[in-house]
Amino acid sequence: MTIEREITIGNIRLIQGDMTQVLPGLDLQADMVLSDPPYRIVKGGNKTGEMRGCMSRDQYDNSGELFPIVEWHDMAPLFYNALAKDADAVVMTSDREGHAARTALQDAGFGFHRTLIWNKGTATPNRYYMPDCEFGLYMWKGRARTISDCGSKALTRYPHSDVSHLYIPKSHYVDGRRPAGHPTEKPVGLLRKWLTNSTDAGGLVLDPFFGSGSTLVAAALSGRAAVGIELNPMWFDVAVARVREAVEAAQFDLFENRPDSAVQGALQV
Ligand SMILES: C[S@@+](CC[C@H](N)C(=O)[O-])C[C@H]1O[C@@H](n2cnc3c(N)ncnc32)[C@H](O)[C@@H]1O
Repeated sequence: MTIEREITIGNIRLIQGDMTQVLPGLDLQADMVLSDPPYRIVKGGNKTGEMRGCMSRDQYDNSGELFPIVEWHDMAPLFYNALAKDADAVVMTSDREGHAARTALQDAGFGFHRTLIWNKGTATPNRYYMPDCEFGLYMWKGRARTISDCGSKALTRYPHSDVSHLYIPKSHYVDGRRPAGHPTEKPVGLLRKWLTNSTDAGGLVLDPFFGSGSTLVAAALSGRAAVGIELNPMWFDVAVARVREAVEAAQFDLFENRPDSAVQGALQV
């Protein structure tokens, strides 16, 4: 296993490396996988219109990949083997990738509960309906666990958050300019809802594709331990900064008055 870097902050362990190599060597018995893996997107945009943000020409080459890809059938058994005997997984995906992802997870041994829906509140322009939702495949291993808050609904409306750019260290600035935040960052509050429903306080959450660290921040603010892996060194650094702040906030219970949306979002569970 190749671990490039590793740091533990409070109960949160962050590893920089390739999850396909690192995860099998960790010998984990996690209580939940909560992850947002990299997957293929539709080759982008219409031929004449210009897309903006992370889909603009200078950031995206229209290849169908925003990140290096791990195939669903390669990652699913790694998730399964890293979990305890009875455990949940919520694996994020798109409507187009959902079938492939669910098939791979079931082939690995998971049972399928249902699809959790995140309504982002904003829609991407598209002439075949404008997508405004992403999805979490809610799976179980072993004996199914009843969620902590049985009043929870499958659909969660939650505003899209984008705060990781606040944590990009100067060493990653390009020509003196701060790069954009993580292109697929997820709201901490949404992740808190899912992980507090599937684990008890003190439980261990695994995110093998942590990106800017949203799952790890959610775990820290919810009194859970977490182990995460990320390939990209810049997102590793960003996550370390976010987790440091979250662990400190959770420790001193300071987050109620903080203005940034990651922490405010966490309060809206
Ligand atoms: C969809 S993003 C996760 C975003 C995250 N949920 C957040 O809120 O920031 C997927 C991440 O997986 C990372 N990744 C891609 N291949 C990987 C691999 N083999 N091992 C670990 N991480 C990988 C990418 O660099 C990317 O940051």
